[in-house]
Amino acid sequence: MLDLKRQYEPLQMELLEALGHVLQTQQFILGEQVNRFERSAASHLGVSHALGCSSGTDALWLALAAAEIGHGTSVITTPFSFFASVSSILRAGGTALLADIDPSTFNLSAKAVEQVLDGPKGKGVQAILPVHLYGQCADWAAFSRLGKERGLKLVEDAAQAWGAEWGAAKAGGLGDIAAFSFYPTKNMSAAGDAGMVTTNSAELAERVRMLRQHGMRRRYYHDEIGWNTRMDGFQGAVLEVKMRYIDGWNHARRTAAKRYHALFHATGLAETGMYPSHGVILPHEVAGSRHAWHQYVIRTRKRDALRDFLAIRQVGSEIYYPLPLHMQDALKNLGYREGDFPEAERAAHEVLALPLFPELREDEQQTVVNAIAEFLS
Ligand SMILES: Cc1ncc(COP(=O)(O)O)c(C=O)c1O
Repeated sequence: MLDLKRQYEPLQMELLEALGHVLQTQQFILGEQVNRFERSAASHLGVSHALGCSSGTDALWLALAAAEIGHGTSVITTPFSFFASVSSILRAGGTALLADIDPSTFNLSAKAVEQVLDGPKGKGVQAILPVHLYGQCADWAAFSRLGKERGLKLVEDAAQAWGAEWGAAKAGGLGDIAAFSFYPTKNMSAAGDAGMVTTNSAELAERVRMLRQHGMRRRYYHDEIGWNTRMDGFQGAVLEVKMRYIDGWNHARRTAAKRYHALFHATGLAETGMYPSHGVILPHEVAGSRHAWHQYVIRTRKRDALRDFLAIRQVGSEIYYPLPLHMQDALKNLGYREGDFPEAERAAHEVLALPLFPELREDEQQTVVNAIAEFLS
């Protein structure tokens, strides 16, 4: 599914040198490397502030806490995402409300969000948390209109979307505040857990800086209950090196995605429409946006049997995500039940992510598509 060694090998010397520098300077927590990475990330994303932290999950929590989401406030998000999109709202002390997805992009549906806002629980809503799933921006034209009309904060879960764009702006600079993950499988990846918060607001940035160090503005004087969520120097050093390559890697992902498209079309199995019948629905890029191709996710009916077949052929695949969040045991208290979000539930049965990483070879992609074609026909 993913071979991280292919990325590491050509960068080995540069990475070891950068790590050696951390050892020499002994700046293990935040420090020089993290500062430099934060500056280059902010300029790369076109945002005023980028703040390193210890994971994407912490970045989400920091973003929400900085935006003063807490007891008595609700946030609307998607049931079709990684667990942290919802758990971070609960950790911040807020109430998580869910709205169904748009089946053509798998992203939170602005229409469904509007229905929640107009419903009985809409009053307490203070923020919307769209996730740019698989590297494709949520419908930002609709969300930014909703945010303005209803006076709501927009918090981006950009964990999967380094390099994605909506119009002229990059993911991370679309909402009031955004969270990135640098988990090793992400487009932009650390050598361990790491994350980042981005914002154009000096006030929110200042709050994140305070919250990531136990609520301290002055050493050992605590203004609020924050947490220890700092980025460490080794991760800053690795990420600073990778900043030099990320555009090239994202370009290679794009090329590989286009190649999958062409290969699937050549098999005659690519279908148009919203839902699959006998073949596969391919992912698409929303007009006017730029997909970061974190994942290449197809939709197909006999998904589980196909996945078993691919495993026998030693073709990697993954399901993001097999169980929507409203059906997770840990989130029973949200009060939702099966049937509440039919699009998310259907997607959970039909999606399959295929191998997609910058170093993936054309012959490997051909093997993947051949195996799928063999199974489906
Ligand atoms: C959509 C989404 N949100 C949040 C996270 C959390 O990031 P991390 O694993 O770095 O804590 C992830 C990472 O898996 C993610 O995919």
